[in-house]
Amino acid sequence: MSTYQEFIQQNEDRDGVRFSWNLWPSSRLEATRLVVPVSCLFTPLKERPNLPPVQYEPVLCSRATCKAVLNPLCQVDFRAKIWACNFCFQRNPFPPSYAGISEVNQPAELMPQFSTIEYIVQRGPPTPLIFMYVVDTCLEEEDLQALKESLQMSLSLLPPNALVGLITFGRMVQLHELSSEGIAKSYVFRGNKDLSSKHVQELLGLTKPAAAAQQGRPAAPQEAAAFCKFLQPVHRVDMNLTDLLGELQRDPWPVPQGKRPLRSTGVALSVAVSLLEGTFPNTGARLMLFVGGPPTHGPGMVVGDELKTPIRSWHDIQKDNARHLKKATKFYEGLANRSAGNGHCIDIYACALDQTGLLEMKCLSNLTGGHIVMGDSFNTSLFKQTFQRVFSKDYNNDFRMAFGGVLEVKTSRELKVCGAIGPCVSLTSKDACVSENEMGVGGTNQWKLCGLGPSTTLGMYFEVVNQHNAPVPQGGRGAIQFVTQYQHSNTHRRIRVTTIARNWADANSQIQHIESSFDQEAAAVLMARLGVFRAESEEGPDVLRWLDRQLIRLCQKFGQFNKDDPTSFRLSESLSLYPQFMFHLRRSPFLQVFNNSPDESSYYRHHFVRQDLTQSLIMIQPILYSYSFHGPPEPVLLDSSSILPDRILLMDTFFQLVIFHGETIAQWRKAGYQEMAEYENFKQLLQAPLDDAQEILQTRFPMPRYVDTEHGGSQARFLLSKVNPSQTHNNLYAWGQVQLPVANLNIWFLFFSGFVFKNSQAVGRKAVLCNFS
Ligand SMILES: *[C@@H]1O[C@H](CO)[C@@H](O)[C@H](O)[C@H]1NC(C)=O
Ligand SMILES: *[C@@H]1O[C@H](CO)[C@@H](O)[C@H](O)[C@H]1NC(C)=O
Ligand SMILES: *[C@@H]1O[C@H](CO)[C@@H](O)[C@H](O)[C@H]1NC(C)=O
Ligand SMILES: *[C@@H]1O[C@H](CO)[C@@H](O)[C@H](O)[C@H]1NC(C)=O
Ligand SMILES: [Zn+2]
Repeated sequence: MSTYQEFIQQNEDRDGVRFSWNLWPSSRLEATRLVVPVSCLFTPLKERPNLPPVQYEPVLCSRATCKAVLNPLCQVDFRAKIWACNFCFQRNPFPPSYAGISEVNQPAELMPQFSTIEYIVQRGPPTPLIFMYVVDTCLEEEDLQALKESLQMSLSLLPPNALVGLITFGRMVQLHELSSEGIAKSYVFRGNKDLSSKHVQELLGLTKPAAAAQQGRPAAPQEAAAFCKFLQPVHRVDMNLTDLLGELQRDPWPVPQGKRPLRSTGVALSVAVSLLEGTFPNTGARLMLFVGGPPTHGPGMVVGDELKTPIRSWHDIQKDNARHLKKATKFYEGLANRSAGNGHCIDIYACALDQTGLLEMKCLSNLTGGHIVMGDSFNTSLFKQTFQRVFSKDYNNDFRMAFGGVLEVKTSRELKVCGAIGPCVSLTSKDACVSENEMGVGGTNQWKLCGLGPSTTLGMYFEVVNQHNAPVPQGGRGAIQFVTQYQHSNTHRRIRVTTIARNWADANSQIQHIESSFDQEAAAVLMARLGVFRAESEEGPDVLRWLDRQLIRLCQKFGQFNKDDPTSFRLSESLSLYPQFMFHLRRSPFLQVFNNSPDESSYYRHHFVRQDLTQSLIMIQPILYSYSFHGPPEPVLLDSSSILPDRILLMDTFFQLVIFHGETIAQWRKAGYQEMAEYENFKQLLQAPLDDAQEILQTRFPMPRYVDTEHGGSQARFLLSKVNPSQTHNNLYAWGQVQLPVANLNIWFLFFSGFVFKNSQAVGRKAVLCNFS
């Protein structure tokens, strides 16, 4: 029998799922008592090099209200050629093409190793990928130059038959006609006047091609392409587009002293969305917005053009003093909504030292599965390399991007689905398996994911609905099926089906089994997503109180202690790290807005709710490695006691990589010992964290900010703001203490090779946790 650790790892590798509980409590009542809901992190397109897709259609259950896909959990009668659906128990005949099946000749979808299987299906003619560049020209010369080069470079990375389009904007919005002959023309729109989609389409002559209209069918892509001068195949226009980009100038409108440039981001996006809507609805398209400052003109403006009026801060927002916030947000939400409806995804590449309005614009990417990349300048490797990675390819030489995804969830009848948290929008599909109890984006069992990649991960939340007095039969299993339909980057339609099952357990007699099935890493990330989702609409302190309550309830349920002896409090191994994750989460920029701008908070949250488990955990609890002469590099506690004079530390917070040289090391480095032959080992010590950092810098998306600092350095704050301010300076195994004010209580975390959680008597109360016996 394998351990739960192995079981969890196998399931993640094979199916891209991590469940909070791997044994499920068999009644609604018991499930609520477990505090952490039955939920999972699900990575629909997890890369699986050893999973060759099959080239046929999935077989569906014939019951109209079910339509679950045939899977390894179905009972099969090979003699009668009948299979029983494991969701609705319908008995279905196999289609004629399955006449030859037998125990020894099974189709892939019945084999246990294909609990996740991908089908390549025929759905109309393949459609080209579409890339629409929307480029701000109110940039400094250096930024514009660097951006132009990146854009030119990207043309060479696109598939040759992809369609490209270009909009540039400053005070005016220019839509460029692309053609390989004749004079380049562009259509100019005023930046302060929004136009309806229909109006834009009429202005541009984007009425349906006559032939198609006469026959009452939508235009085939080739027809649409032929007549749409604004979107052309890369191979046909790349030379001209490269020239066009090369000739781009900064916005010619003069910017008076004390003013911001007029930047018509809203109208530019509106034209782009309308153009795509009118030409290629429901075809994979990526709209890429590049901005170097906030929208200041027309619909969607975030701040006025007076430099003396700063862009809104958290303080302004709390004081209800952010004039444009609501209106701008509503404007971008409308665009995001339309774009999501059309299946187009929107990326935002925002490079500026000040805020650019990500708070207002984030929904563009959040709802459509687009990327957000935030940097100081377009002339940084952070932007350049990150942008290049958008076009990275997988082991099959296919782009790591997929479009037009629809994820559908089916559950066996003891379960219902409460919602999803991630880059998705609801398709408001009211199936019988939809719970009334919404968590995240709920009230549906289908979500649209306009843009997704191999690491796009959703949090999925479920509810056990089985009543306490109607026990699940012994040995019964609950099942969930995820069906993801999407447009692969090679333009074929595919359907990936993942079917999983877990055993039911009676929480009265088997609570220890349930406890040991707890996946504390997954649970921490899933609870964190719920917290971050709440933080978007609730006050920060309320969210923290909610998280604290959940943590205390969990500890009450599973903690072991002797009555009236707080120091005896223990959690079993499967829960021992969970309080520590919650501790770091409370301090994280996902829940604390102090010291971050509204744009930064939006940025951090945006990435947190879409990354996979490993990356999410790094975001919650940054990793700290120590390099010294005392042994090989080792992970150390994220605590100030880990900062020692003769150590180099490498901290990874996902968004930042910080190399910190301890006091002595910094002195030696300054004295140049690393250049002397006899101190070769010192040179190597300095090099080791750089090499490790490089490895991370080269793979992560978005590329992290890289900070090289030392004891007393101004950038040391990046490290100091993350470590526990513990007062003890003993070694790793020492007791440390951190005080957390939680509502009116003071909760102390004591940690001893991992954290043990308990409640202190610091405010003259009896320890709360120990009072619950
Ligand atoms: C971009 O930055 C590099 C290094 O800082 C500098 O050498 C280069 O001139 C900059 N590019 C432009 C267009 O200014
Ligand atoms: C596109 O490039 C071709 C060849 O380089 C040139 O003859 C043509 O005039 C260009 N068209 C535009 C619109 O610039
Ligand atoms: C989003 O679009 C849907 C239709 O696609 C519409 O019913 C809904 O009201 C829109 N919501 C917003 C906020 O615009
Ligand atoms: C995404 O957008 C929706 C709608 O604007 C919002 O409810 C949700 O909290 C957002 N999520 C994040 C992480 O920004
Ligand atoms: Zn069925």
